[in-house]
Amino acid sequence: MDVRKAVIPAAGLGTRFLPATKAVPKEMLPIVDTPAIQFVVEEAVRAGITDVLIVTGRGKGPIEDHFDRSVELEVFLEEKGKFDELKQVVAISDMAGIHYIRQKEAAGLGHAVSLARDHVNGEPFAVLLGDDLIHPSVPLLEEMIGVSEEREASVIAAMKVPPEDISLYGCITPEVLDEQLSRVVRVVEKPPVAEAASNLAAIGRYVFTPDIFDAIARTEPGHGGEIQLTDAINIVAQETSVYAYSFESGRYDVGNRLDYLKAMVTFALERDDVGPGLRSWLAELAKRERLV
Ligand code: G1P
Repeated sequence: MDVRKAVIPAAGLGTRFLPATKAVPKEMLPIVDTPAIQFVVEEAVRAGITDVLIVTGRGKGPIEDHFDRSVELEVFLEEKGKFDELKQVVAISDMAGIHYIRQKEAAGLGHAVSLARDHVNGEPFAVLLGDDLIHPSVPLLEEMIGVSEEREASVIAAMKVPPEDISLYGCITPEVLDEQLSRVVRVVEKPPVAEAASNLAAIGRYVFTPDIFDAIARTEPGHGGEIQLTDAINIVAQETSVYAYSFESGRYDVGNRLDYLKAMVTFALERDDVGPGLRSWLAELAKRERLV
């Protein structure tokens, strides 16, 4: 069955970005002028997704407004003759069918995904985490969907990280099948560095077969006292098979302040409008600050 649906968990409080995230959802923080969550929805649409369920929570209203029509803004832009901007704002609301469900308590990523059960209605589906920004040139999700369809199994994205960073991630013990594909022998949420079996980290892109929901229902609170998606994936990996699809570049952890800045500069340099100006200013800055 084609993967048509995606779930984007967006209920987190964004404490790593305070004070900006006190009143603004972290998913709405812009990369140049585009909210991070718009890149995530665009990525899903590029991979063939037509239906997106965003799991929200208190204070996440701006996300709904962003993907909604804004008649007032459209009329204003039309009157002012700003037709490019008009096309852009209308396109955002036409990208996909976007639906919302609220997570009432911070009970973990596994719990957030479990709320999608009725909406997903027995189909395979993708999960995209907004903190992981994937460069639009990397067809990661399309490729993962291909593997999932071929193997009729769930697939998680994986990337090697510096060994000292593995305690920030789901840590995968792989049985390597080829350069990119492994079978997941085990996956452990945020193990202490000394106990980590590898430096292969789960990255926030997943393609699931519907059996993940039964596994989440059987998952006890784990790391941080929360229902962890990683623990549910581990159950499926033990009982049937889960695959890890490795990739090497084009991922930015925009939940991390430094990586957020790097994403901003990288994306800005690639643009025709601000790119050239930023490039020459960066060259001047590097000279002035004796960076090189
Ligand atoms: C989540 C997952 C973790 C995964 C990570 C990828 O953690 O729980 O398994 O490795 O995303 O970014 P978070 O970063 O939300 O704490």
